[in-house]
Amino acid sequence: MAVSSYVPRGMISAVTLLACRRSPIPGRLRRRQLPAINFSALLLHSSTAMRASQEEFERAKGQAKLLKEDPGNEVKLKLYALFKQAAEGPCTSPKPGMLDFVNKAKWDAWNALGSLPKDTARQNYVDLVSSLVSSQSLSQEKTSSNDKKPEYENLVVTREGNITKIMLNRPTKKNAIDVKMYNEIMLALEAAVKDDSFLTVITGNGDYYSSGNDFSKFATILPNEIEKRIEDASMLLRKFVDHFIDFPKPLVAVVNGPAVGIAVTLLPLFDIIYATDRATFQTPFTQLGLSPEACSSYTFPKIMGPAKAAEMLLFGRKLTAQEAYAQGLITEVFPDSTFQKEVWTRLKAYSQLPPKTVMASKQLIRGFEKETLHRVNFEECALISERLCSDDSINAIVNFINRKSKL
Ligand SMILES: *[C@@H]1O[C@H](CO)[C@@H](O)[C@H](O)[C@H]1NC(C)=O
Ligand SMILES: *[C@@H]1O[C@H](CO)[C@@H](O)[C@H](O)[C@H]1NC(C)=O
Repeated sequence: MAVSSYVPRGMISAVTLLACRRSPIPGRLRRRQLPAINFSALLLHSSTAMRASQEEFERAKGQAKLLKEDPGNEVKLKLYALFKQAAEGPCTSPKPGMLDFVNKAKWDAWNALGSLPKDTARQNYVDLVSSLVSSQSLSQEKTSSNDKKPEYENLVVTREGNITKIMLNRPTKKNAIDVKMYNEIMLALEAAVKDDSFLTVITGNGDYYSSGNDFSKFATILPNEIEKRIEDASMLLRKFVDHFIDFPKPLVAVVNGPAVGIAVTLLPLFDIIYATDRATFQTPFTQLGLSPEACSSYTFPKIMGPAKAAEMLLFGRKLTAQEAYAQGLITEVFPDSTFQKEVWTRLKAYSQLPPKTVMASKQLIRGFEKETLHRVNFEECALISERLCSDDSINAIVNFINRKSKL
């Protein structure tokens, strides 16, 4: 039974995190796996191709020393062996003792090349180095967020004056946040911390701000993976929310349409929240046997009082923009027809204020709470992991997916 790949309203944070692949760490921090190198292709190629000159060999030797990432032991041994073979010919030195692990591994690698001609070894060495250099500079381009702009699949990140605009860009999925988007948002926030922009704005492309978690991939999880997935999901969620708790610059939500689940619970971690009068705000966790996230169990009661917070967080009551405004969840509501114009005019004016002063004041306002928020985040993620393993949640999600797939 096919699950529709997009689930409209009821989707909630944390649930689809289940669908995540094993990579809760943003690309920048992840150790990159270099592409596998096909040694036989190299050998084949070089037996017919032109031989590398001594000059190319010397240059490759220099490049090998400058590789930024450790290519791993197997590749390093291969490099060593080819280098020795190219420089000295077949291995004739005595085999090192069994316990001299490092030298024995090197000897084995060199000896394995047998009678490979020197110039072939030289060519192979040059080819191997050049494939390492190009694969590393490729992965560097993809992961480095300092020097080069990261490329995003599910976001459009633009810079206008002093404003960094992060636009959720899966309009056909109502900007549902999948694992990739979680990771990309974290990368975009990290980049915004480092660049010289002042205001950071998050908004959505299309009719929705965001429909929350995308758990369309939930159905593909195998039973024996569930525990691991839940652990990964909980780690990813915690890290994601930490990015908002710690964000040092003014953070603005431009809520261009309905918001659901984590798109709502995160809002109190923003400094300004502007919404169109078309927006609605809903956090239907309980229907899925789940519990609140993004520190909402702490921030919501604080902002709107426990009585109002409970109706949202426990019973999933949906608020209109006016209600959300009345309860202090958002800063201001604008008529939809003039929303973009009014909001951006105001943000442009704000973005000319002295950044250091604003940041210092933000630090003062938020500083007292940070430690508490981190603790709340930790506890919420722990409870979500527990809830996800519960019958309530598993039944609710299975029913939810079945219901959707029949539509
Ligand atoms: C490696 O290259 C050789 C020669 O081009 C090819 O026959 C072989 O299929 C390749 N192996 C892999 C795993 O790509
Ligand atoms: C950016 O902010 C500075 C103050 O830090 C201000 O002088 C400048 O006009 C702003 N630039 C734009 C394009 O708004």
